[in-house]
Amino acid sequence: MYCPQSFRQKILSIAVIIAFVIQPCRMLKAQQAEEYYTKGMVVSAYPDAAQAGLAILKKGGNAVDAAVAVQFALAVTLPQAGNLGGGGFMVYRSAKGQAATLDFREKAPAMASANMYLDANGNVIPDKSLYTHQAAGVPGSVDGMVQAHQKYGKLPWAVLVQPAIDLAHKGFKVTEHLANDLNHSQADFSRLNAGRTNYFAKPAPWKAGDVLVLEDLAKTLTLIRDKGRAGFYDGVVAAQITDEMKAGQGLITQADLNNYHSVWRKPIVGKYKQFKIITMPPPSSGGIALLQLLHSVEPYPLSRWGYNQDSTVQLITEAERRVYADRSKYLGDPDFYSVPVDSLLNPAYITGRMSNFSWAQATPSSTIQPGSFAGYESDQTTHYSIVDAQGNAVSITTTLNGSFGNKIFVKGAGFLLNNEMDDFSSKPGVPNMYGLVGGKANSIQPGKRMLSSMTPTILEKDGKLFMVVGTPGGSTIITSVFQTILNVTEFNQNAQQAVSSKRFHHQWLPDEVMTENNALDETVVNKLKQKGYKITLRGNIGRVDAIVVTKEGLTGGADPRGDDTKAGW
Ligand code: GLY
Repeated sequence: MYCPQSFRQKILSIAVIIAFVIQPCRMLKAQQAEEYYTKGMVVSAYPDAAQAGLAILKKGGNAVDAAVAVQFALAVTLPQAGNLGGGGFMVYRSAKGQAATLDFREKAPAMASANMYLDANGNVIPDKSLYTHQAAGVPGSVDGMVQAHQKYGKLPWAVLVQPAIDLAHKGFKVTEHLANDLNHSQADFSRLNAGRTNYFAKPAPWKAGDVLVLEDLAKTLTLIRDKGRAGFYDGVVAAQITDEMKAGQGLITQADLNNYHSVWRKPIVGKYKQFKIITMPPPSSGGIALLQLLHSVEPYPLSRWGYNQDSTVQLITEAERRVYADRSKYLGDPDFYSVPVDSLLNPAYITGRMSNFSWAQATPSSTIQPGSFAGYESDQTTHYSIVDAQGNAVSITTTLNGSFGNKIFVKGAGFLLNNEMDDFSSKPGVPNMYGLVGGKANSIQPGKRMLSSMTPTILEKDGKLFMVVGTPGGSTIITSVFQTILNVTEFNQNAQQAVSSKRFHHQWLPDEVMTENNALDETVVNKLKQKGYKITLRGNIGRVDAIVVTKEGLTGGADPRGDDTKAGW
């Protein structure tokens, strides 16, 4: 057909406009110009926390110093997930390339037992592992920060805790997200703290700009500032925790608090193309699953197919299906269960797992079981990424598990307890709040750490720091980190685009591809449906906070799904 030049040009221009308009539609906000920083950067889930971390960097603190300040600031400003009463994981890479990981995950109390959430008929008692005193594991965050600071910190401890005390004592401005979340949980806070203090009570609904003052939390933080670990695990605060347990038939005792210690663990390290991946070992499933996913897709030309095209989505889905099946059987606390790390990461094993994947149709999850090896039997979280002037990097994911944890305040101490016990498998095959199933590897035992999906990760390229990344999101954490890494390494997205881009998720069971709104084009959805994939829409997936090192400097991705903020200098 003859096409006059001007008409052809018009068609071309329209096509270009469509390409550039439709693609960003799969990101959440119009992208601002990229900003670069050379002396350090913090990306975290609340503006005041990011600023607290940046202020520490500007005072000469290193990435770990800033992380301690951010952790405590989030315990004030992001009560949905930031915490004193929870736990988390840190991945650290020094400017010289030494890597370490710190496990400050909560532990089951000594009085916990395998069937503690089952009734007399062996059925799971609804909500017992979520909204009771018995839902709480022994908190690890304060010990974790103390350990991290003792090993790597530079500025005095008190300087790092002080910003959080100021935020709690003087008050901070509530964002619209926080106001909505506080309003949404008001009835739960009243019910679960009946006759006691509800620190978030307010006669009129919370709205953006209201100031939240948390005096009791400021007192607790002051004890932590002055006494370090003993300010939380001993003395006044410890007594407040154990009194709270006695009042609500909880299990945590002073002995549990005394016995809580975070653990330095050998990082999981692997390669994806030219990138070295440094990530979290068990009791998080995140690191192993991330490497399994990356190795599963490595042989395929993802960058040629493109971001969220049908082949890309199909391949990623099939990899995720198989990896989550393995997670259900083999992952648990390595101090209690022999996790077959080498077998799970064996390249031949991973290739074999993908060998029955067919381009013609979806593999039903019912036909996928956890793999077998010779000789073997068996949403609210928050993440922050920090790089300092020297190039030391910290990637921390920390959580209470559910939004506001078990929603029970420790009376007098002003902080919420976690409901991390739900991350154990209460009964083999019965899904937890994230729909995840498990078995023996993740059964409840006294002193054991519950399996996590948290995936704080650091990437190197050519021996140098390249990316710091992580996210909240329960079971979707692993797939969000995986897809964000692919967005940067395969689809040439900058840090902000990679974080903002829409995501999808498959976790073996239920057998469905869950997508954010507009994550996939209609044509992609139709092609996948024809092959037998069930596609379901869900709300936001993850809130990724990432830093990427470019030749221009550090550039960040703060997730527009929340109040996430990047701050650098
Ligand atoms: N509580 C969510 C996780 O640790 O995976």
